[in-house]
Amino acid sequence: MRVNRRTGVLVAGAALTALTLSACSGSSNGDGGGSGGGSESAAEVEVFTWWAAGSEKAGLDALVAVFDEQHPDIEFVNGAVAGGAGSAAKDLLQSRLQASDPPDTFQAHAGLELLDYINAGQLQDVSPLYDEFDLREAFPADLVERLTHEGQIYSIPSNIHRANVLWANPAVLEEHGLDPQASYDSLDDWFADLDVLQEAGVTPLSVATAWTQVHLLETILLADLGPDAYNGLWDGTTDWEGAEVTAALEDFERAMSYTNGDRDGLDWPEATQLVIDGNAAFNVMGDWAVAAFEEQGKVFGTDFTAAPVPGTDGVFDFLADSFTLPVGAPHEGGSHAWLETVASLEGQTAFNAAKGSIPARTDADPADFSEYQRTAIESFAQDTIVSSLAHGAATPVATLNAVTDATSKFTSGASDLSTFQSELATATAAD
Ligand code: GAL
Repeated sequence: MRVNRRTGVLVAGAALTALTLSACSGSSNGDGGGSGGGSESAAEVEVFTWWAAGSEKAGLDALVAVFDEQHPDIEFVNGAVAGGAGSAAKDLLQSRLQASDPPDTFQAHAGLELLDYINAGQLQDVSPLYDEFDLREAFPADLVERLTHEGQIYSIPSNIHRANVLWANPAVLEEHGLDPQASYDSLDDWFADLDVLQEAGVTPLSVATAWTQVHLLETILLADLGPDAYNGLWDGTTDWEGAEVTAALEDFERAMSYTNGDRDGLDWPEATQLVIDGNAAFNVMGDWAVAAFEEQGKVFGTDFTAAPVPGTDGVFDFLADSFTLPVGAPHEGGSHAWLETVASLEGQTAFNAAKGSIPARTDADPADFSEYQRTAIESFAQDTIVSSLAHGAATPVATLNAVTDATSKFTSGASDLSTFQSELATATAAD
């Protein structure tokens, strides 16, 4: 994996305190896979995610099925909170952590988002589990680096997702005389087809609530700036107030002009559904969307296509989910058992086959995954890797929240492009 080390590496761009580290020095009880020994009881595990419905729940269910086989004596308690990308879950989690009421384990993105929890002293070091479960060689070194701070590892990755994917309905394109393979060299080529669809009265591009608009924004920044200047947005070497960013924001404004008017009331599954049903031609979404297409029997290459967002070919806009061991977890034996299942080859194979992501483990067999997923496995191995903004890899949560607020203001017409650009510059200045 080629990772630009100027970004996304966990230690980048944040002040780290000794205080935090001393608060994080606890460890798991090492009770050997859930046979007991947690601070209260190992008989259950509350797992906090935002995989509450649809294909995301199907992914979680597949992981739980493996957990039930591996740890039949431990009850899985589903702490999922609905809302794509953790749009509701992360705030609730924060309140619980601040009230010293942590779940036994929670979902967190590899990268700067994880560093938030580490800095707040909310996570235990799980490196003893890497030894116990024999994980030191199981994951790509650069991924483990994004989970590591000062020699301690703070979570176990479950999967890798790609954010810069353009999904299309070939039947809609064909009906309007456009190339059903939906392959574009540049944003301008793509916009030309969006114009045709707009004139024909079809929704060219579906989008949903604020976080999905930020997701679209990040892929357009990547397309226009290229990977190096995109990375520079997160380490201060690309000027947010510069002309290159202005041009990208103009393209974002143009892309938004092709989208559905009811977008703010939808979440990602509804926006994807518009494409599945032929009520929109395109959607830009992470590759959890493939699970929604496939869950409904749609065939890759025939009923839907997936390609890098125009202008981002050869770049893999990366994010990874991982699971933590919170300080004060009430059932540490349960957490230990859950983390063992998450880390296992069987758990990763079952979960990722259903979720649309690719395994974080490098020893998984590509033959166990769908045709789309095999393309992602190949791209991840050869593309330039950059960190996702909307999914916690590139910035801390507070920065993402400020970017999301600025984006919502802009797309709802409450600010103009130059205000938007300065608000983005302010939002990211503290990174
Ligand atoms: C991402 C998460 C994915 C998927 C997506 C949509 O942040 O990493 O696993 O759940 O949100 O909810």
